[in-house]
Amino acid sequence: MTVKKRVLSGMRTTGRLHLGHYHGVLTNWLKLQDEYDCYFFAADWHALTSEYQDPGIVKESTVDIFIDWLSVGIDPEKATLFIQSQIKEHAELHLLLSMITPLPWLLRNPTYKDATAEGGGEGEVTYGFLGYPVLQAADIIIYKANLVPIGVDQLPHVELTREITRRFNHLYGEIFPVPEPILTETSKVNGLDGRKMSKSYNNSIYLSDDEKTLKKKVSSMVTDIQRARRNDPGDPEKCNLFPLHPLYSSPAEVEEIRAACPRAEIGCVDCKKILLKNLVAGLAPIHDRQNYYREHPELVKEIIETGRGRARKVAAATMEKVRKAVKLD
Ligand code: TRP
Ligand code: SF4
Repeated sequence: MTVKKRVLSGMRTTGRLHLGHYHGVLTNWLKLQDEYDCYFFAADWHALTSEYQDPGIVKESTVDIFIDWLSVGIDPEKATLFIQSQIKEHAELHLLLSMITPLPWLLRNPTYKDATAEGGGEGEVTYGFLGYPVLQAADIIIYKANLVPIGVDQLPHVELTREITRRFNHLYGEIFPVPEPILTETSKVNGLDGRKMSKSYNNSIYLSDDEKTLKKKVSSMVTDIQRARRNDPGDPEKCNLFPLHPLYSSPAEVEEIRAACPRAEIGCVDCKKILLKNLVAGLAPIHDRQNYYREHPELVKEIIETGRGRARKVAAATMEKVRKAVKLD
């Protein structure tokens, strides 16, 4: 029997999930959970690096994120789903890794450099923020993960994890596999305003948006900015909205729009109507499951408890070896 490789990934709990998370990350997790021994977790400690002044949002988002995962089909029977802060061993390993991580490695990290370049007023760039990748390294290696699915923006963090892991192994013995990133071809999802969909741009369509909200958002969405009037021809390739069609509309509809738009045979208002109809239908089963879990909080609690037990067992076993290796036991 070949042992399944272990996959680990996390999401910061800073709000509800939007279509960018769904099509960019979760569709990939859905495939991975069938093939690998997956650990997916809510990174609430990492969320605090930016939300520490408003921790309520972190707590709320932690339950929401579980509901959103479950509603798209992440399966607690297949994957271990847990909350980072419930597994205190991550913090212990983070501390030990912080002893061996040279400061220049962290000062070179692009996230840190960007934040300090932007002014990074006092209080924004904290000690925890600088150490963010060290905690991420602890998250990953404490489960001896082999593969880490991430978007390109996270690549420097996983590179750092690899360096820290090699350094640890070199100093104390080969305890950890050096994890590999799996780069998902980030099907980048466009936001309402023409930029990448992101919570911080306030341009997102959330998995939990109701029909009224969806209608408002779709009708406000930027399309092909060159197309000023109904009679102007449009270009689906340059249209900000068009890439959403293949995700929700039928192939026949997609082809029809692709042909009709450049001939001005369809206007953006009608094109949006088609998208809205299909988006509402596509999200309906997700909304049904969200409602189901909202009405059964005890089920969500039980899933979180089960995940905690499974994750803790692995993390605790790793830490026993780590303590021995660093002569603390
Ligand atoms: N930093 C990741 C993000 O912002 C979240 C994260 C925390 C993570 N720990 C991780 C991702 C470990 C993968 C593995 O998306
Ligand atoms: Fe975009 Fe559709 Fe308008 Fe063409 S008709 S520009 S594809 S929204």
